[in-house]
Amino acid sequence: MSEHETNNRWTAPEYAEADSEIELSLRPKTLDQYIGQDIAKENLSVYMNAAKMRGETLDHCLIYGPPGLGKTTLAGIIANEMGVNLKITSGPAIERPCDLAALMTSLDEGDVLFIDEIHRLPKMVAEVLYPAMEDFAIDIMVGPAQAKHSIRLDLPHFTLVGATTRSGQLAAPLRDRFGVQLRLELYTPEQLGDIVMRSAGVLQVPIDRDGALEIASRSRGTPRIANRLLKRTRDFAQVLRDGRVDEEVARYALEQLRIDELGLDDFDRRMLSTIISFYGGGPVGVETLAAALGEEAVTIEDVYEPYLMQIGFLSRTPRGRCVTALAYDHLGIEQQGQQSLF
Ligand code: ADE
Repeated sequence: MSEHETNNRWTAPEYAEADSEIELSLRPKTLDQYIGQDIAKENLSVYMNAAKMRGETLDHCLIYGPPGLGKTTLAGIIANEMGVNLKITSGPAIERPCDLAALMTSLDEGDVLFIDEIHRLPKMVAEVLYPAMEDFAIDIMVGPAQAKHSIRLDLPHFTLVGATTRSGQLAAPLRDRFGVQLRLELYTPEQLGDIVMRSAGVLQVPIDRDGALEIASRSRGTPRIANRLLKRTRDFAQVLRDGRVDEEVARYALEQLRIDELGLDDFDRRMLSTIISFYGGGPVGVETLAAALGEEAVTIEDVYEPYLMQIGFLSRTPRGRCVTALAYDHLGIEQQGQQSLF
């Protein structure tokens, strides 16, 4: 049983779902096993070695980037490489300052406290976090209403690892208290191919390189998606073939899942064609677009846009989002009249 299952107070509900045994076993445990993110990895390795040489805890780390790129995985690796415990929670799960105080007072010396979606930490909680990060102490209010006074509680030295998809939304005083800031980038198809090969090894799925690359190239630069598509492709390979994942069965499975050669799904295509048919290809504001699609603006910004922008299908201008000529081509839609230059 995983720690998250045995000790729910550390665990936001969304982790309970994602952290099945299989999900956990696919996660690399050491930096050596972690594929891609070379700059973040090399720097982190230096910081961890230096802290170990000095016999200190690692400085607080902020990890930011689109969802599914391995922020939680990296926090686990940090704890593992530093030889300490990992405690996991998330911004919205810490509702009051006393929740945070309870979390922090039960840490052991050197532990890693991982706060996912740290941009969603309530302001009052963040204010308790500042002295905790800086001085390893918190001031808490005690006593009856008429005689309330604050007492200072010393905390063990710990490493806070904060993760966010939106570093721009972090209050500057919080962002500035992270001594280490790591930005994760979307993965290349080759890196994702290596991840799919590794995951297939863990899951004991027979696979060849072309099969892995077919899955990788349709996974929008995101390991979480690549691992999910690998599992679904394995199902098709098992039921319809001899269980081996090759290029042909991967193509078939991904077509069945309505994921095209570039990794776009039905929602991506609907989003692009909505911008084209309702807003002349753009510009259109994200809130307007979200209302037209019945989706939340943050989901569009965090989940869909990074990949569409990376492959050059969408551009963000001060006046809104624009679909590019590349996207028109891909969708097989002709550009009408005078289009924007994007
Ligand atoms: N599984 C998910 N992300 C991974 C990564 N970056 N390296 C290796 N395996 C992974």
